Amino acid sequence: IVLKKMTLCAWKSKNKQSRVSLLIVLLYLETVMVCHFPVLLPVRIVLVESIPEGMEFNSSTSSPSIFQAWVRLMSEARSSVDIASFYWTLTNEDTSTHEPSASQGEEVLKRLAELSGKLPVRIAVDSQEGKPQADLKLLNDSGADVRTVNMRALTTGVLHTKFWVVDKTHIYIGSANMDWRSLTQVKELGAVVYNCSCLASDLEKIFEAYWLVGGSESIPSPWPSSFSTLYNKDTPLQLPLNSTPSSVYLSSSPQSFCAAGRTPDLQSLLSVIDDAEEFIYIAVMNYLPTTEYTHPKRYWADIDTQLRRSAYERKVKVRLLISCWPHSPPVMLPFLKSLASVHDYRNKLDVQVRLFTVPADPRQKAIPYARVNHNKYMVTDKVAYIGTSNWSGDYFLNTAGSALVVNQTDSPDPTVQSQLKAVFERDWNSAYSAPVRHGANLKHVC
Ligand SMILES: *[C@@H]1O[C@H](CO)[C@@H](O)[C@H](O)[C@H]1NC(C)=O
Ligand SMILES: *[C@@H]1O[C@H](CO)[C@@H](O)[C@H](O)[C@H]1NC(C)=O
Ligand SMILES: *[C@@H]1O[C@H](CO)[C@@H](O)[C@H](O)[C@H]1NC(C)=O
Ligand SMILES: *[C@@H]1O[C@H](CO)[C@@H](O)[C@H](O)[C@H]1NC(C)=O
Ligand SMILES: *[C@@H]1O[C@H](CO)[C@@H](O)[C@H](O)[C@H]1NC(C)=O
Repeated sequence: IVLKKMTLCAWKSKNKQSRVSLLIVLLYLETVMVCHFPVLLPVRIVLVESIPEGMEFNSSTSSPSIFQAWVRLMSEARSSVDIASFYWTLTNEDTSTHEPSASQGEEVLKRLAELSGKLPVRIAVDSQEGKPQADLKLLNDSGADVRTVNMRALTTGVLHTKFWVVDKTHIYIGSANMDWRSLTQVKELGAVVYNCSCLASDLEKIFEAYWLVGGSESIPSPWPSSFSTLYNKDTPLQLPLNSTPSSVYLSSSPQSFCAAGRTPDLQSLLSVIDDAEEFIYIAVMNYLPTTEYTHPKRYWADIDTQLRRSAYERKVKVRLLISCWPHSPPVMLPFLKSLASVHDYRNKLDVQVRLFTVPADPRQKAIPYARVNHNKYMVTDKVAYIGTSNWSGDYFLNTAGSALVVNQTDSPDPTVQSQLKAVFERDWNSAYSAPVRHGANLKHVC
């Protein structure tokens, strides 16, 4: 407030030269103060989850819902809302269903349409043919600015990122799509960070990159300096999160979308694995040491090799919790069995793989593409990594995704890391997960 008043005084000052130099100094101070002394405005991070209807854990670990977080973000919005998204199916109409559990998605759409008439709402969405357009049309007609990004033409990938930036101050990032099922029928995990303009402006740069390629249909090379960032794996943003000293940065994929200073998502993921000393817990929907969508498909073992290396060279305990549902790629199982066989007490090799199944009654089974664990995160003894990508080659080579990396290594009370670890352990130890068995065939298991 004092800085704001001084800035105003400087603006009113008679001498033009002193006015300009004072303003520059004050604006600089303001940026530095806000970014590096966030005690002035406490930064709050909250892990949020969607737990599919009917699932019950024997555990006290629970997180606020993603639905609550989205509603909160919309109610906080005063000046802008920017959303990066894969596709939009927030209503029963979009999915030709009659599910009472679509009401949360429908409410999100309604509120967002109301906001679109009041303040600038921008939506970057992958340009996929055949996906429902009704929500986007409603939002556009309500005043939102919708831009499609033709990733297929640009990189042969898709825009798979899912994040929100509100008032350049608050952010959400995580696995949930703009899909009613992501709120009540699919298991999701994300993070919301409130009152963090430094991180929000950084995520905004990733959004602006989508916005630019959406409008121009080509990828700039090099990216203009306005897309560059100071925050990456080597020089993260240092700040207290929930009063805990933390260092944080955002990574992005594919590499061609990374402006100067930005850590590519794959590098960030590998560096987190490499940095672990005790354990690496990974919960992802798909895990494949291959590409899934290239023709021909390719073997791609960057992550797999790093995990085996950590288990062998540093004796790190590795746990993978992978999703099991009727659409799981069958070739995933032999590769998971291969990884799970790197387990031998005499040689101190400790790798375990479990499959997680979201149960479904006959009515829930009838909901298309639902009842699955869609999580995409990793937690080590030091770091929490919350991403938006499946773990197979395509997602790092040509698909747009991003991740939030929170490092609490030197903190006596690593809140985010320990909460994420508790979530992983709840799922790992629940009756919904089972070890990968040697003879098993995915068709029979999932
Ligand atoms: C979006 O809304 C504008 C009016 O605000 C309209 O001119 C345009 O045709 C709409 N676009 C689509 C794709 O519906
Ligand atoms: C942001 O910080 C202000 C000032 O401490 C606080 O009043 C507000 O509730 C915070 N916003 C959120 C969304 O936590
Ligand atoms: C986490 O921070 C410590 C220093 O506080 C650093 O040595 C380490 O490399 C960081 N880890 C990652 C994965 O960035
Ligand atoms: C992840 O992989 C699954 C199965 O291949 C696919 O349906 C999904 O669209 C991918 N991306 C998301 C949304 O996580
Ligand atoms: C909860 O505990 C009961 C009793 O041990 C067990 O039968 C059930 O499968 C457990 N549920 C989960 C989700 O772990």
